[in-house]
Amino acid sequence: MADKPVTDRAEEDTVAYEVADGIAWVKFNRPEKRNCMSPKLNRQMKKVLEELEFREEVKVLVLTGEGDAWTAGMDLKEYFRETEAQGLWAIRKSQRESYGWFERLRWYEKPTVAMINGWCFGGGYGPLFGCDIAVAADDAQFGLSEINWGILPGGGASKVVQELMPFRKAMYHAMMGENLSGKEAEAQGLITEAVPADKLKARVLEICEALKKKDGHALRATKWAVRRMVDMTYDNALDYQIRSQEALHSFGGAAARQEATRQFLDEKSFKPGLGTFDTSKVKR
Ligand code: ACO
Repeated sequence: MADKPVTDRAEEDTVAYEVADGIAWVKFNRPEKRNCMSPKLNRQMKKVLEELEFREEVKVLVLTGEGDAWTAGMDLKEYFRETEAQGLWAIRKSQRESYGWFERLRWYEKPTVAMINGWCFGGGYGPLFGCDIAVAADDAQFGLSEINWGILPGGGASKVVQELMPFRKAMYHAMMGENLSGKEAEAQGLITEAVPADKLKARVLEICEALKKKDGHALRATKWAVRRMVDMTYDNALDYQIRSQEALHSFGGAAARQEATRQFLDEKSFKPGLGTFDTSKVKR
């Protein structure tokens, strides 16, 4: 058998990114390993996310994968076997590195879109859930394969399916180790929508363009409210929304609302029911 090319990527090459026209395109970048997540990739992803988070020109972040995978989950060799061989300190360190960037993504300051171009397994459900909107190719494959190799879906994965999918579907998905297509993942609530593979980028771009036009501070408050309210009582949620709206005023929220109202009621240049106001006219 011919030797395979050795590909041991430098840490900084495990994630690729570019910023174009207000959109940060961030890629899992280990296509030869189906973009599975090694400790190096986890560290680099956190760095890249943090580097992009407060850049003024970044309005939306898209997380996608190079090649034919989004991510094949955790790296069974580098994340599990090699780390476990070093002992508990190494296990905890690599757990913190991966869970750390999943957490950053869940509470990211900018809107985030997962563009799932192919395989998405196990540990990949953490970042999948971290992204606010998830669009997949119809033929992408989603799997909780943990049960197929004798572990439970950890790293957040079983929580993700419990939160996103109907109970019976989540349980079947976690126990059976069978994959779902993009279309099935959409039907079961795991992702926002699935589109034909050749339309994937265009659809994601369309969503990003719409998000770019919205008020960024209001978007941030909205996505955080939707995530925070999951385990709040109705009254607590109501109160959280009041505080959150008031907190928006520290970021010019009152001026934004006044301007939007002016454009609708006085200028009659837009209708909130049909589109977004012109945010460029807000004087903060
Ligand atoms: N961990 C370590 N290496 C991986 C992983 C992974 N999760 N996924 C792929 N690779 C490696 C393969 O070992 C192979 O390496 P090699 O070229 O050195 O032999 C290379 O990536 C290419 O993978 P293939 O299996 O040859 O690719 P193929 O396209 O035939 O299959 C598939 C793709 C289905 C994604 C397959 O690689 C696979 O089953 N991967 C594991 C998926 C998985 O169960 N992930 C863990 C989920 S559980 C968790 O994340 C905690």
